[in-house]
Amino acid sequence: MTTPVFDSPDAARRRRSAKWRTHPADVLPMFVAEMDVALAPPVQRVLADAVAGSDTGYAMAVPALGEALAGFAERRWGWTIDPGRVAPVPDVGVGMVEVLRLLGAAGRPVVFSPPVYSPFWNWVAEVGGQAVEVPLTDDGSWRLDLPALELAFAQRPAAYLLCNPHNPVGWVPGPAELAALVELATRYGVPLVSDEIHAPLTLPGETVTPLLTVPGAADVALAVVSASKAFNLAGLKCAAVVSGSAPMQAVLERMPPDVRWRPGHLGVLASIAAFTDADAWLDALRGALADRFDVLGHLLAEQLPQVRWRRPQATFLAWLDCREVGEGDAPFQQFLDRGRVAVEPGLKFGAPGSGFVRLNVGTSPELLTEGVARMATALR
Ligand SMILES: Cc1ncc(COP(=O)(O)O)c(C=O)c1O
Repeated sequence: MTTPVFDSPDAARRRRSAKWRTHPADVLPMFVAEMDVALAPPVQRVLADAVAGSDTGYAMAVPALGEALAGFAERRWGWTIDPGRVAPVPDVGVGMVEVLRLLGAAGRPVVFSPPVYSPFWNWVAEVGGQAVEVPLTDDGSWRLDLPALELAFAQRPAAYLLCNPHNPVGWVPGPAELAALVELATRYGVPLVSDEIHAPLTLPGETVTPLLTVPGAADVALAVVSASKAFNLAGLKCAAVVSGSAPMQAVLERMPPDVRWRPGHLGVLASIAAFTDADAWLDALRGALADRFDVLGHLLAEQLPQVRWRRPQATFLAWLDCREVGEGDAPFQQFLDRGRVAVEPGLKFGAPGSGFVRLNVGTSPELLTEGVARMATALR
């Protein structure tokens, strides 16, 4: 049985994770990027067996995690990873912060492109770097602003942080654009760090280009990956930093030795099962998410015609243009106060998010329908 099963509304409300316990019970949470999906059966089995056997000690991620990831990357994207160049970390956030430290970001500029996942600012601040924003451009499709990036790269920043695919807009940068980014990075000597946590979650028909598969990228880039977003394992704590060349591996090998002890054992076991045995489940999930976006499109057209949106290429997140409702965080606040539905305020993702909200559709059709109905009620 590979079809993903989404919680009924009652079952979802019994969850105790951040999504379900941050707000009072009368608020429908559609904010933080967790899905209300049952674990893939191979993941359920490995976790149940571990608990039944009291197998809850420290993680032993090397080499099994890298081998499982390498198999997954080869099958899904034709990306050849050397398992010996995979460094386990507890989560993508820790991976990004540790890499920024290794790249000497303290006191130096670090460039990235809003609207983007809000911890990008926090990660740079955590290592004492200076955030330099070069927003995406939007001419009907999203793009990197390559001329502006060139100006920023000429200042020799410590790194450029890529979000591939891009949260919150669900955009998948194409190979030509990534090649242009790699060319700039090579020319100016700027390391690239690619957050690829959403890469397994392309919608059917869309293809992600892992940055390290772009010619020349391996010499200047590191990727940070995880099974946690696609397989809903965020609380189990397992991710990995991947290098693809001797020079970047030399950077990775300076990672403090204790970091390898910090991933969760259950997270490592679950990630290995997910990377090894759950391709069919993942494909069915991608199909289910495409259905959700279909439903969302119909519901918005019927009930919230003033909200504009573009179907994403990846993720389970919808970036909704609510500027007809108000600027800044006004739409978010109105949805929360009057509709009792919690979405993410667009400004959290940087200044271009003024008047936008991010809606999480990784739930049952019933709760998605209820969420949009609550948003519509809020505007009445
Ligand atoms: C782009 C992006 N990076 C990182 C994370 C967080 O990952 P982790 O929980 O592994 O730190 C998220 C979570 O939604 C995300 O969307």
